[in-house]
Amino acid sequence: MTTFWSTWICVLTIGSLIGLTWLLIGTRKGETKGSVDQTMGHSFDGIEEYDNPLPQWWFMLFAGTLVFAVGYLILYPGLGNWKGVLPGYEDGWTQTKEWEKEMAKADSKFGPIFAKFAAMPVEEVAKDPQALKMGGRLFASNCAVCHGSDAKGAFGFPNLADSIWRWGGSPDTIKTTIMGGRMAAMPAWGEVLGETGVKNVAAYVRHELAGLPLPADSGADLHAGQQTFSTTCVACHGVNGQGTELMGAPNLTQPAGFIYGTSLTQLQQTIRHGRQGHMPAQNELLGNDKVQLLAAYVYSLSHATRAEGLQAASKSQ
Ligand code: HEC
Ligand code: HEC
Repeated sequence: MTTFWSTWICVLTIGSLIGLTWLLIGTRKGETKGSVDQTMGHSFDGIEEYDNPLPQWWFMLFAGTLVFAVGYLILYPGLGNWKGVLPGYEDGWTQTKEWEKEMAKADSKFGPIFAKFAAMPVEEVAKDPQALKMGGRLFASNCAVCHGSDAKGAFGFPNLADSIWRWGGSPDTIKTTIMGGRMAAMPAWGEVLGETGVKNVAAYVRHELAGLPLPADSGADLHAGQQTFSTTCVACHGVNGQGTELMGAPNLTQPAGFIYGTSLTQLQQTIRHGRQGHMPAQNELLGNDKVQLLAAYVYSLSHATRAEGLQAASKSQ
């Protein structure tokens, strides 16, 4: 701050304090003790005003705020370039600096803990109750919006608490998924296959692969559906519909893992228009150390390690 603005602020602030003190003392009627019946002499619609001094408690309260203001301005930076007599504000006060100070404090507190877990294999981290607790908190604030607070997913968002994986469920694959994100690409087949073609292959997926019943009047040609599947879909979903983790093509024989629905209408919709599920990358936002805890947490959801971890946690409490 330039000297001019610093002086300007000092003059305004100190001037106001002096002015308020004068106002308080100057308008105080010290001479009449207690209340009197004398009025100010004016009347509005029959309402009159007594000419009494301020109640003592009110006066003390006001005086107190003035004393507090003076004390505060001496201790802390507030008056222009004045740094305050308390240590820690030698470089002046800004919100950014306060935030940086808090972050540095948090870093020195949590840094070693993060470093410890980052150096361990994800599977081991998934057995540590403290890591699971931290991972759970990170999950609630960064992942629950899409995957749900119980991680069980929703339409378009996979369940992370079961044992069905689109991209793979090994600890390292889960970490890779979270770090780099995933972009699934199921092409649209409506134009290529035509309406009948879409209906046939949808029925084939539902009945022959997913093992779900078909309505009697579906009128679908399952044989034609199979032909289409073996020419058009195998490249990604595999000969038996078991899926390909490398491209996130789901296993079509596990209806519990379908995220876009298993009804004929929903399957036709998926096949006709395609789907592009997008898992956003977290490396820049959260960084390796936090993703390590998240991967461990997610891994624990579908593995016994979670039960062990939680047992250990309840014992240690
Ligand atoms: C904006 C929504 C969104 C957020 C936020 C999000 N995800 Fe996802 N996530 C998705 C979608 C969509 C997919 C499925 C991608 C696909 O279609 O293959 C997915 C897939 C995944 C998978 C792969 C599942 C599998 O079956 O292979 C994991 C693991 C995962 N997310 C973990 C996380 C974690 C941990 C977080 C929090 C850091 C997170 N996600 C935040 C939308 C989200
Ligand atoms: C280029 C590779 C590719 C081809 C070819 C392909 N798919 Fe897919 N399919 C995918 C991917 C990747 C997904 C996951 C999309 C997502 O998660 O958003 C998917 C998803 C699906 C789903 C949704 C599953 C769910 O989770 O709800 C169905 C059903 C499906 N495909 C059926 C088919 C059929 C039928 C064909 C052949 C006509 C086909 N796919 C051809 C890659 C492919």
